[in-house]
Amino acid sequence: MAILTINNLTYQYPSSPQPALKDISLTLESGEFLAVIGANGAGKSSLCYTAAGFIPHFFRGELNGQVLIDGVDSSQSNLNELVLHAGLVFQNPFNQISGSKFTVYEEIAFGLENLGIAREEMKARIDEALALTNIADLGKRSPYALSGGQQQRVALASILVMQPKLLVLDEPTSQLDPIGTQEVFQVIRAMTKRGMTILMAEHKIEQVAEFADRVIALDAGEILLEGTPGEVLTSPLLPERGVGISRYTQVARRAQAMGLWSKQTHLPATLAQAVRGFGGADAAQEVNDAA
Ligand SMILES: Nc1ncnc2c1ncn2[C@@H]1O[C@H](COP(=O)(O)OP(=O)(O)OP(=O)(O)O)[C@@H](O)[C@H]1O
Ligand SMILES: [Mg+2]
Repeated sequence: MAILTINNLTYQYPSSPQPALKDISLTLESGEFLAVIGANGAGKSSLCYTAAGFIPHFFRGELNGQVLIDGVDSSQSNLNELVLHAGLVFQNPFNQISGSKFTVYEEIAFGLENLGIAREEMKARIDEALALTNIADLGKRSPYALSGGQQQRVALASILVMQPKLLVLDEPTSQLDPIGTQEVFQVIRAMTKRGMTILMAEHKIEQVAEFADRVIALDAGEILLEGTPGEVLTSPLLPERGVGISRYTQVARRAQAMGLWSKQTHLPATLAQAVRGFGGADAAQEVNDAA
């Protein structure tokens, strides 16, 4: 079943001379993890806002085409209804903080309070979200007296407690160190196993290669590429359009130029694929086992 369907969407911000998104069509199936990549200004955040209904209800402007979020036509609905279907974690975690709560715990409870959920259920959900995002020790702290990475974990927790069917994440690891980044991707994987659907804008290509089911590359508001991580992330079009590529693809491409990488073997995007290409299946299995 499709959780998100976008048909021929073109969107222009009020003050902008040209559309931020041009003729976008895509479908996201239940339980799928779709990653959106692209250079700065390519339209990743705009697509996230659209998928969660913030376009057109928070950012106004001109929208053409149709967006169905969990079956609800977003133009015909409002944010109060749409938050029950889709949750958005902002690119800048500071924008997510309500500004009205004194502790991280209260901050994470904020969205739930408006849903009229029983106290016990609320507490269980909050404790679980604190544990999943590894911030149980921050519960009593002020949401403002935190590092950017800690705020990013709080922002994620405050959306996870809402248990949206569609979780939209706009570069949720931009302020996290490599370990924190890997932890967040593992939380996302656990969420998809529970049936949550994920749309994530992300520029960390190696994690996208490892975790995403499908990838879309945006370029100047248009879909440039769409396919499996292996197909999209090794495309020579990406560096041409200012999108980074994984270091494993870089190394293999160099090796190919030197005649050290078989022309028959697809270029790798992950470490395990690179090892398989260079050294065979046994070595790749060892890498997978170690990860
Ligand atoms: N609030 C806004 N008002 C007007 N134009 C905007 C607004 N936000 C974004 N834009 C424009 O829309 C286009 C797409 O921007 P968007 O923020 O979606 O890109 P992005 O891929 O998320 O970039 P980044 O990697 O920097 O986060 C850009 O040309 C940008 O200047
Ligand atoms: Mg952005």
